[in-house]
Amino acid sequence: MKFSVVGSGTMGRGIGQIFAQSGYNVVQVDVSKQALDNARVAIIDSLNKLERKGSLKDTPDRIISRMEFTDNMDSISESDMVIEAVFERLDIKTETLKRIGATVGKNTIIGSNTSSISINLLSAYVDNPERFMGIHFFNPVPVMKLVELVSGEKTSSDLMKKVYELLVTIGKDPVTVRDFPGFVSNRVLMPLIREAILAFEESVASASDIDKTFRLGMNHPMGPLELADFIGLDVCQDIMEVLYTNYGDPRFKPPITLRNLVNSKKLGRKTGEGFYKYE
Ligand code: CAA
Repeated sequence: MKFSVVGSGTMGRGIGQIFAQSGYNVVQVDVSKQALDNARVAIIDSLNKLERKGSLKDTPDRIISRMEFTDNMDSISESDMVIEAVFERLDIKTETLKRIGATVGKNTIIGSNTSSISINLLSAYVDNPERFMGIHFFNPVPVMKLVELVSGEKTSSDLMKKVYELLVTIGKDPVTVRDFPGFVSNRVLMPLIREAILAFEESVASASDIDKTFRLGMNHPMGPLELADFIGLDVCQDIMEVLYTNYGDPRFKPPITLRNLVNSKKLGRKTGEGFYKYE
């Protein structure tokens, strides 16, 4: 099978990497040459980490040689499966899905890595929506075993089964969820992050003590504020917006501190500052 991933940010490049690691050829697409260069560097770094632990079946050089990095969308035309992993914005996702549909064959499997947008809504932009589904990975993709598989009303049950089995063969452990905003992961995670931000706003404790509460009290690998920085504060805000718009419930409303950090381009780890400062 030949895979393509459209979008080469943190999630997209991780998705491309794990398929290349499993022996498949991957076309890694982005409109930005800079994003493609960054993706290649990050993938090499991740592969080197995995090699040091002895968890690669192949050398990093051979794995990277199975990947084509390109800004030319026509390169995906021969793909058996394409995963869309562009920004979490409805307009960008729908444009991208239309482009993918116009470029690949009628039977090519199309997945969206959306973390909150409705698969039924997105499926309106895909011809043959029975070959379309949500395939939601977790960051860092090469490390996290979970994938949320989201079935839209038109998604074929054979496709769900096929993709489930494929992901198991590449070392993932998926769950199957219905098409509800935020699915399971972000519906439950975002109110936690939001409440932690509100506790921080109300000076209940320092950011580091809020996080320590969850690391030491609940054995979470990261506290909610460090996790928000890790996910990207802009991404958290976008997901909360989708949840708030769809459920109309204030428990999803992006807090003012989150908005202020995003407006001042303090987006977390990726920009060097969010709730914490990074080297
Ligand atoms: N590629 C390969 N290996 C990696 C890696 C990468 N990108 N990042 C980390 N690792 C490996 C490290 O090599 C290390 O391996 P060993 O333990 O075998 O030495 C291991 O992962 C742990 O890494 P570190 O020691 O550097 O740091 P850590 O112990 O703090 O772990 C972490 C890092 C795995 C990210 C951990 O902190 C963690 O699990 N955090 C929570 C992550 C999480 O919740 N992700 C989901 C976010 S939500 C999401 O993605 C979906 C959404 O829609 C918002």
